[in-house]
Amino acid sequence: MKFIPISQPSIGQKEIEYVTDAVKSGWVSSLGKYIDLFEEKFSEYCGTKYAVATSNGTTALHLTLVSLGITENDEVIIPDFTFVATGSAVKYIGAKVVTVDVEEDTLCIDPIAIDKAITAKTKAIIPVHLYGHSADMVAINKIAKKHNLFVIEDAAEAHGAEEHGHKVGGLSNAGVFSFYGNKIITSGEGGMITTNDEALYLKLKRLRDHAMSKDKRYWHDEVGFNYRMTNLQAALGVAQFERIDEILAKKKEIFEWYFDELKDVDNLKLNFQKNNYKNVYWMICIEIIGYQEKERNILLEQLKEKGIDGRPFFYPVSDMPMYDDTDTPITHKVYQRGINLPSYFDLKKEQVKYICEQLRLLV
Ligand SMILES: Cc1ncc(COP(=O)(O)O)c(C=O)c1O
Repeated sequence: MKFIPISQPSIGQKEIEYVTDAVKSGWVSSLGKYIDLFEEKFSEYCGTKYAVATSNGTTALHLTLVSLGITENDEVIIPDFTFVATGSAVKYIGAKVVTVDVEEDTLCIDPIAIDKAITAKTKAIIPVHLYGHSADMVAINKIAKKHNLFVIEDAAEAHGAEEHGHKVGGLSNAGVFSFYGNKIITSGEGGMITTNDEALYLKLKRLRDHAMSKDKRYWHDEVGFNYRMTNLQAALGVAQFERIDEILAKKKEIFEWYFDELKDVDNLKLNFQKNNYKNVYWMICIEIIGYQEKERNILLEQLKEKGIDGRPFFYPVSDMPMYDDTDTPITHKVYQRGINLPSYFDLKKEQVKYICEQLRLLV
């Protein structure tokens, strides 16, 4: 069987048509109809009043933290189990990154651990909707309200995920998305911030574009950024967005193929979906119960020899040299035993069957 990659974008006629249109229009930088359209459609989808497109998800996180007024004197709580960009954005501000443990079932930040980590310096919480499952936003918002904290959803991996029928990105002060090539929908590189807060929206827009004065061109009264998305990226993003239901339906179908093939294997745990939540299965997650990092890495090598691409779960952020060590037993257990397997739009049922057959022989 031909090598099966973990991820590849689904680029169809519509994507080619819109990007070609953007190129031909001459609007190749950060002005043009596709940017407005992408922001409009995306905010509507998330149920928020506003959306601001950015150059990527990491700049979207950074811009949101700056715009909310987080400074180097503050502490920001993030899950220890996430892609490192969640922490990097806090580091850019110079604020203290406080990493806390996750729930073993959903792999998302544990509200009880958040509560324990709050100090007088805590200013914000960044829950991450990891691998497509929403964090427990009801509990997190309750804690935030009690302590007067900002909540920024890192929804980079969870476009369309829901909690109690509400889409992520609209469940807190702001939601942050990524459109990197391996995400649910892609714009090549790109990000988006969703919010209902008008003041925050206006600040995000200003700071995204060098904080240029609205009334006096080329006058700037604070330091801004160039974190703009281009019209070319937005053209691809809009075309992909128009297919989001089809893409999410396929993600679910692929998860069901894996589930049917592997449900009777005792030592495997697949993606979990809590009651009243909608998991969008960005990545197929397989945990091999009892595995340590070394055995997990051998398994990934063996799968590769069979032509199957896989990737390890994220390492704990707190293990990296730039961050403080933290005692997060669940993060430290699950990261060692977890892998992600292929789940891209064009993946075929026979390929999933083959992957599962090989996996069953190896674990
Ligand atoms: C959880 C999480 N946060 C933030 C990011 C950053 O997004 P980007 O790669 O677009 O900068 C990513 C993705 O790569 C991510 O997975």
